[in-house]
Amino acid sequence: MIRICADVDILAARNALRALALDIGAPPRTVLELSIVVSELAWNVLKHGGGGHMVLESIDDLERGIGLRIVAFDEGPPIRDLVSALRDGFDDCGPIDPSTLLRRGGLGGGLGAVARFTDALSYVQHDGHKRIEAVRYLRRPSSRPRPDARKAS
Ligand SMILES: Nc1ncnc2c1ncn2[C@@H]1O[C@H](COP(=O)(O)OP(=O)(O)O)[C@@H](O)[C@H]1O
Ligand SMILES: [Mg+2]
Repeated sequence: MIRICADVDILAARNALRALALDIGAPPRTVLELSIVVSELAWNVLKHGGGGHMVLESIDDLERGIGLRIVAFDEGPPIRDLVSALRDGFDDCGPIDPSTLLRRGGLGGGLGAVARFTDALSYVQHDGHKRIEAVRYLRRPSSRPRPDARKAS
């Protein structure tokens, strides 16, 4: 468990993620993407949740194989509208007023990045406790072979 109470804790969470990801043999791009996921969730715990903690663990799913589970917990106000919050440039109420962007400290793209870089995302809010879980498999279910450029005429 990693406590998230100050900026420096975000670095600790990133370092822990990196160690775990390298341990399961994640390629550099995956490590980078998951570092972004951890950073964004940790910033949100700090900024919107007033502090909390994170749990990072490797998983081995019977069907989907090896992956990483990243869970963020806090006890701040709930996310009012998750669908809105997931959209780039939106907060949990709707579009972010561009005139507030400079002082609000965030572009409203964090959760969108978390969703893009992971394969499953869930949010549970109960009794003032929030839990946001993101899972990424090394073998991404949506991955498709890239088009072979050599075949182009
Ligand atoms: N831990 C959290 N607690 C409460 N609200 C949150 C939390 N994380 C995200 N949100 C809500 O979701 C919105 C979108 O989050 P995000 O995409 O990271 O953008 P940003 O942090 O720049 O506002 C936030 O503006 C906030 O309204
Ligand atoms: Mg954010």
